Amino acid sequence: MEQAYLENGGTALLVDLRDGDAVIVHWGDALPAPLPDAALLLPAVPRSNFDVPIRPSLVPQASRGWRGAPGLSGARDDGSGYSPLLTVRSADATATRLDLELEDAVARLRVRIGLELDAHGILHASAELENASDAAYRLVGLELALPLPARAAEVLDHAGRWGREKQQQRHGIAHGEWVRAGRHGRTGHDATGLFAAGTAGFGFGRGEVWGIHLAWSGDHRHRVERLGDGQTVIAAGELLHPGEVVLGAGERYTAPELLAAHSTEGLDGVSARFHRMLRARPTHPRTPRPVVLNTWEAVYFRHDLDELSRLAETAAAVGVERFVLDDGWFRGRRDDHAGLGDWVVDADVWPQGLGPLIERVEALGMRFGLWVEPEMVNEDSDLVRAHPDWIAGPAGRRSLEWRHQQVLDLVNPDAFAHVLGQLDALLSENQGIAFLKWDQNRDQTELGSGGRASTHAQTLAAYRMLDELRRRHPDVEIESCSSGGARVDLGVLARTDRVWASDTNDALERQLIQRGTQALIPPELVGAHIGPAHSHTTGRTQDLSFRAITALVGHFGIEWDILRASDAERAELAQAIAYYRDRRELLHSGRLVHADDRGPSSTVYGVVADDRSEAVFVVAQLTLAPDEQTPPATLPGLDPARRYRVRFGLPLDERGVGERGAPAWIAAGGELELTGAALAVIGVPVPALLPEHALLLDVREVR
Ligand code: DGJ
Repeated sequence: MEQAYLENGGTALLVDLRDGDAVIVHWGDALPAPLPDAALLLPAVPRSNFDVPIRPSLVPQASRGWRGAPGLSGARDDGSGYSPLLTVRSADATATRLDLELEDAVARLRVRIGLELDAHGILHASAELENASDAAYRLVGLELALPLPARAAEVLDHAGRWGREKQQQRHGIAHGEWVRAGRHGRTGHDATGLFAAGTAGFGFGRGEVWGIHLAWSGDHRHRVERLGDGQTVIAAGELLHPGEVVLGAGERYTAPELLAAHSTEGLDGVSARFHRMLRARPTHPRTPRPVVLNTWEAVYFRHDLDELSRLAETAAAVGVERFVLDDGWFRGRRDDHAGLGDWVVDADVWPQGLGPLIERVEALGMRFGLWVEPEMVNEDSDLVRAHPDWIAGPAGRRSLEWRHQQVLDLVNPDAFAHVLGQLDALLSENQGIAFLKWDQNRDQTELGSGGRASTHAQTLAAYRMLDELRRRHPDVEIESCSSGGARVDLGVLARTDRVWASDTNDALERQLIQRGTQALIPPELVGAHIGPAHSHTTGRTQDLSFRAITALVGHFGIEWDILRASDAERAELAQAIAYYRDRRELLHSGRLVHADDRGPSSTVYGVVADDRSEAVFVVAQLTLAPDEQTPPATLPGLDPARRYRVRFGLPLDERGVGERGAPAWIAAGGELELTGAALAVIGVPVPALLPEHALLLDVREVR
């Protein structure tokens, strides 16, 4: 086979397989017939260079003239095998999938690659290395690279910190390497999620964009590299620690799956492909995403059956459907210094167990959820007192503590079996637990098991535990939380039902955190809660209307002591919940779109139904507008030819309006009818909003 052409969902890959190499020649829009002959597309040989044209192989190799980062690196103990020359031994192609086996018969290494384009245009790229020698092979890294054309001029990724995850950053692609590496032993607060490159000035709805994501919850990197000759690749792979993966005879290493999407419809086009792919999974949650009340910012460690029962009653009265008891319920857990590792109910605080609260919650018509942090231990726990050697880390010493906790060595089969057994018992004895908030609250920078680095194995062990628990309790939904959004990736989402995007419930911060998170993950999988008026993480004070509208485009919930809310606040909350329950089918199935014409002080985004018959849009003022008059909110994504009626989805918060009078359509009754074309280019005149206020536009087709 000299070349392979894959096409699906409007995306195509053309792979040149001549000379034993495997080189992607085209990754982008589907190509109309006749297909190009890849042999004729070889570039010229520049001056002072190798004597043959050089292009990036799927696994870039120095032996093939690649002067950038190699796709496969490692060596044997005697230093041999350091520069493999991989040759395609077999290639099997269908219309949408290519399987390759490559081999270096001298270095005795085999690499198997799978490239599959799914119906949503997502490329699923897998790679596996096999050591075909009796001598051990010390792997440094295995990573696939995808080519970017010269017109890819800018890179956009996300960075952040605790309480402020997934902030966009972008810059021009120049000679050199832009690497977003995460060495946290978990995905990390600063992990990019979606990592994208695009044509100059690409935006949410414009330009050509190539986006990738590594489905992995351990150490990793995403990168773009442009060499001096102009060849550019976008790539991602696992970061391995020294000595972590040493392959014995016949042993294999499987790289985390690399997912990639291309779109000529901007960043939203790439996101839409990922969202559709995730929604099509058989494991995607199918039931309406329940309104959550999580107790954390309401009571913290103050667990009291009476108070929590009253909180549950108030929650049910405003329309909550899932009541989640957060940290503090297990043995010795009166604060965050003790208890992790002992997953049994604390008899002092819960003398009758969790049963009475679960029964109360269920009697009120809600389901019950519980917080756990199975991968962690406190030194002050019965578990560590009995098994001090079950703590992960280098031999002979303890790693630094973080939130007073250490990591349980899940690579140790006894430790693994112990925690799994406790969780299994907890769920078996409390059948009412319908949801677990699975937390993981520390970076783990030098994980070790049995004296060797174990981040890779620990990540797989955490996956195994999630998988096994799900197998035993298939009806229990699980949330991936990690000090907020430090474990948000498609590796963990393959075995969980939603992610917690951040520990901040401050709606201003949340606007951008959720935007960055939802670049990859659809709203229904991203927990978004209304916090207290006075934010616990930032100290800002925000009106309920802004907090509620911000939580609406997500998996909606509350994390606030509503026992202390006023009657007026509870009525407003009930109204927002009713709106969410009415519109969640649309919010959780439509296409997420963002207007490109706002500066940094405001944002307009929404969800448009797949049949474009309806939509919900948010207009949010983040900081004081630079202009006295607020520009109209242009609403992208609707059918240009159809006519739509626009109304407020929730009443306008008069406290947030900073000008006299209202735009004419509001003064005339609050209904505006326009075509999709007019909504996209002229837009809806909106009142000038004060910072940290938002309004909600409900859009329905007029038939
Ligand atoms: C960190 C989480 O992100 C919070 O929501 C909360 O569950 C605390 N841990 C509890 O310790």
